[in-house]
Amino acid sequence: MMKEIESVQAQRERLRQAGHARILALETSCDETAAAVVEDGRRILSNVVFSQIDLHALYGGVVPEIASRAHVEACDRVVDEALQQAGMTLPEVDALAVTYGPGLVGALLTGVSCMKGLAYAAGKPLVAVNHIEGHVSANYLSNPALVPPFLCLVVSGGHSHVVRVNDYGSYTLLGQTMDDAAGEAFDKAARVLGLPYPGGPRIDALAEEGDPHYLPLPHPHAPGRYDYSFSGMKTAFLNAVHQLEMKGAPVPKADLAASFRYAVVESLVEKAILAAKETNAPALAMAGGVSANRLLRRRMQEAADQAGIPLYMPEIRLCTDNGAMIGSAAFYRLMKGETAPLTLNAVPGLRLV
Ligand code: KG4
Ligand code: ZN
Repeated sequence: MMKEIESVQAQRERLRQAGHARILALETSCDETAAAVVEDGRRILSNVVFSQIDLHALYGGVVPEIASRAHVEACDRVVDEALQQAGMTLPEVDALAVTYGPGLVGALLTGVSCMKGLAYAAGKPLVAVNHIEGHVSANYLSNPALVPPFLCLVVSGGHSHVVRVNDYGSYTLLGQTMDDAAGEAFDKAARVLGLPYPGGPRIDALAEEGDPHYLPLPHPHAPGRYDYSFSGMKTAFLNAVHQLEMKGAPVPKADLAASFRYAVVESLVEKAILAAKETNAPALAMAGGVSANRLLRRRMQEAADQAGIPLYMPEIRLCTDNGAMIGSAAFYRLMKGETAPLTLNAVPGLRLV
């Protein structure tokens, strides 16, 4: 006798009632092709990241067309590896998840198409995930005790936001950058110092050996109490480096890197702690690529300890783009009954709030 096929809607309701799901997630919004299997939003069964950095380094930044093509070539392999490392086959996962924005449109589309195809073939529910919500959710993987509400500093290549996480999937924006994102500022400063792409981690490593007080940079002025601005700092930094070069003077790269990192980090810490104190946040978390920054982690820990606010951070490997964070975010969306139709499209300008 033929086994009756359970509809996607029936599967979704069954999973919600059980409060349990093992999700295969794919992330392709920028320059990492990443897949993972995550159980109940909290446990990583596998996490495979294929970085395209080598492909883009030659050009000093991400080339969108190259990224899309590399995702197409890598996604099958990365998904297979994630399943294999989890010791599972596609029919054994409960649902599929994919990042649908924000990000590069071509890069997003390759992931969305791949997972729509797999969801259709396997007859499984598909969950659409906001990349920034993914970054926030990386905290749930590294910190079993963390539950909303809490305040989160989201600092990536495209975002510098202070958000209140009211509940899973519910956010209030308290502050944001008026110009560059923190990661973008790090990348630009690194380029001026002649450091290869991606600049953030390079500046961070070089800064460990430099004097943070070598070049005092202007304190940013932003309109809102919890808003950020990095453009003044960045321009002052660029001018100082160009002046040294024009004079033919030696350029002390480590000291310059340390000075820039210090200025960005002090600003991030000051506003995030102020917001946490003034809104009586029960806890503070950090998310996004820049939360891997060594000085930011140290300084935020000191400031949070001083303010008596518990601080949570994703472990370093979960700060930058990965599939596990998408699998975590997807679980809480699935538990709210939010699945995506197979007409799902990429939304490059998707917002968190
Ligand atoms: O979150 P992410 O991996 O991708 C986006 O969603 O944008 O963040 C990438 C950004 C890049 O700008 C990169 O330079 C920065 O995070 N980044 C860092 C560090 N690691 C990554 N910035 C400063 N220090 C780091 N250690
Ligand atoms: Zn990211």
